Amino acid sequence: MKRALPFYLHKPWARIGRPIRLFEYMAKHLGPIGHYRLFNIHIVFLNEPEYIREVLINQGGSFVRERTIRRLKILLGEGLLTSDDPTHKRSRRIAAPAFHRQRISSYAETMVASAAAMRSTWHSSGEIDIAATMMQLSLEIVARTLFSTEVDADIRAINDQTNVIMGIYNYLIAFPNLEAVLHWPIPGVMRFRKARQKLDRIITRIIADRKAEGAEKLAQRSDLLSLLLVARDEDGSELSDEQLRDEVMTIFLAGYETTANALTWTWYLLTLNPGADARMAEELRKVLGEGEAARLPTLED
Ligand code: HEM
Repeated sequence: MKRALPFYLHKPWARIGRPIRLFEYMAKHLGPIGHYRLFNIHIVFLNEPEYIREVLINQGGSFVRERTIRRLKILLGEGLLTSDDPTHKRSRRIAAPAFHRQRISSYAETMVASAAAMRSTWHSSGEIDIAATMMQLSLEIVARTLFSTEVDADIRAINDQTNVIMGIYNYLIAFPNLEAVLHWPIPGVMRFRKARQKLDRIITRIIADRKAEGAEKLAQRSDLLSLLLVARDEDGSELSDEQLRDEVMTIFLAGYETTANALTWTWYLLTLNPGADARMAEELRKVLGEGEAARLPTLED
């Protein structure tokens, strides 16, 4: 684009707060590489897997994370999503066993069981708020796979405080130097500080309680938090309490709302595409069986 993006604000594809319209426009009219300016910031938009691979993998070492992700450090510290190398490489090594295929298969059983339990409440007629329902389902799954717990008061509080922070996140990152004003008595900043303190207290307590259980009990647990607690780097070092807190927050935030949104849009798109919906139903019947004889899916499916 020849001028900075705000110049085009009267165009239907350049609505503030609707970035997907802009991306769709660029993919359609500018092809695999688009460029625009937001005032003086140059933004390059890639829409071709090969180019994206080049940035993330082939030349990964030449790029750092962009500003909004780095800004998440105020909430997520130096977790997997926000840290750069060498911290990031070390955390990846330590966390790897927690994401091993065998672990994922035990989480898969939990996920299927949670989904099946939710389905069993759906028989009655009437409307379902699919977005709220998918949020509830993914929160339940996160609670079980990350903490081996049900959606109790702690999990609800983590969820509520995270929502408070994400609700004011766009406002927060508008500060050019947020870190410098974090202690100022600005209403939004004070709300952020309070929510973060509450989050820290809950997560720190959950970690301390889990550690107090002792090594033997920890080894029997298979939730992500326990795996991160016993994980060691090649030199025998472990994650500090602060790093544990950062990774738990990261996985909670990265894993829960993303999945709920993906599921919600999947349902929506299926209703718009009856052909795809019918093919999915047919595949389910073929693979899992029909009626009383139908079984639940597994990771292999
Ligand atoms: C449909 C669901 C999901 C979507 C759309 C999604 C999307 C993404 C994206 C775009 C990134 C890259 C962010 C960046 O560095 O710019 C990312 C990273 C990450 N995601 Fe997800 N994610 C999903 C599910 C999950 C789940 C279920 C988990 C964990 C249980 C998770 C954990 C992470 C972690 C730890 C990272 C950082 C990885 C690293 O840099 O080492 N995500 N995700």
